[in-house]
Amino acid sequence: MKGFGLLVIIFIVFPAVHTTDIFVYGTLKEGQPNHFIMKNDTNGQAEFVAHARTVDRYPLVIATKNNIPFLLNVSGTGQRVHGEIYRVDEKMLKFLDEFESCPQMYQRKLIRLEVQDGPGGGEHTPKNGSIVEAFVYSTKTYEPEWLQKTTYESYNSYGDHGLLYHED
Ligand SMILES: *[C@@H]1O[C@H](CO)[C@@H](O)[C@H](O)[C@H]1NC(C)=O
Ligand SMILES: *[C@@H]1O[C@H](CO)[C@@H](O)[C@H](O)[C@H]1NC(C)=O
Ligand SMILES: *[C@@H]1O[C@H](CO)[C@@H](O)[C@H](O)[C@H]1NC(C)=O
Repeated sequence: MKGFGLLVIIFIVFPAVHTTDIFVYGTLKEGQPNHFIMKNDTNGQAEFVAHARTVDRYPLVIATKNNIPFLLNVSGTGQRVHGEIYRVDEKMLKFLDEFESCPQMYQRKLIRLEVQDGPGGGEHTPKNGSIVEAFVYSTKTYEPEWLQKTTYESYNSYGDHGLLYHED
């Protein structure tokens, strides 16, 4: 008797979730005016990874009539800037690129960061003190007088400077 075996091959295709680490230093940080964007699932996913500061110094200034924080790509001046690393999916990355008018206004480049602390425990959490890379929205195009502005180590829209961020 001939038996016919039915071979069922089930391919379980896991969608490849591609994530990108983003360093935020301005209005997207926790407690800042645009943080809600990162919390909104409609825009995609963003998972907090760690607090960090830049390895190199950069001028973080507040400029324009809207009091927008800008990290100027003038390495070696300014301060080691504090911020937060988030792991975002492709949908959120696309959303943030549009939000940051990248590449028209900002450029998204890799930056070296020293991890300050993470939530701990997670297998993907980098260790305190380790050096990692993440993408940052920085700007190359700026008014020359921005270089004379006060630089900040850690941006806070609600700080003593009184330069509250606002949209048009
Ligand atoms: C989330 O974003 C969508 C699309 O931009 C918007 O329609 C919705 O109101 C937002 N939800 C919250 C809670 O902000
Ligand atoms: C700064 O500009 C240089 C030269 O274009 C580029 O290689 C680097 O990635 C930029 N860094 C940041 C943080 O934008
Ligand atoms: C991370 O390291 C810094 C400097 O060594 C230390 O001050 C800080 O307490 C550490 N944070 C954690 C969460 O271990």
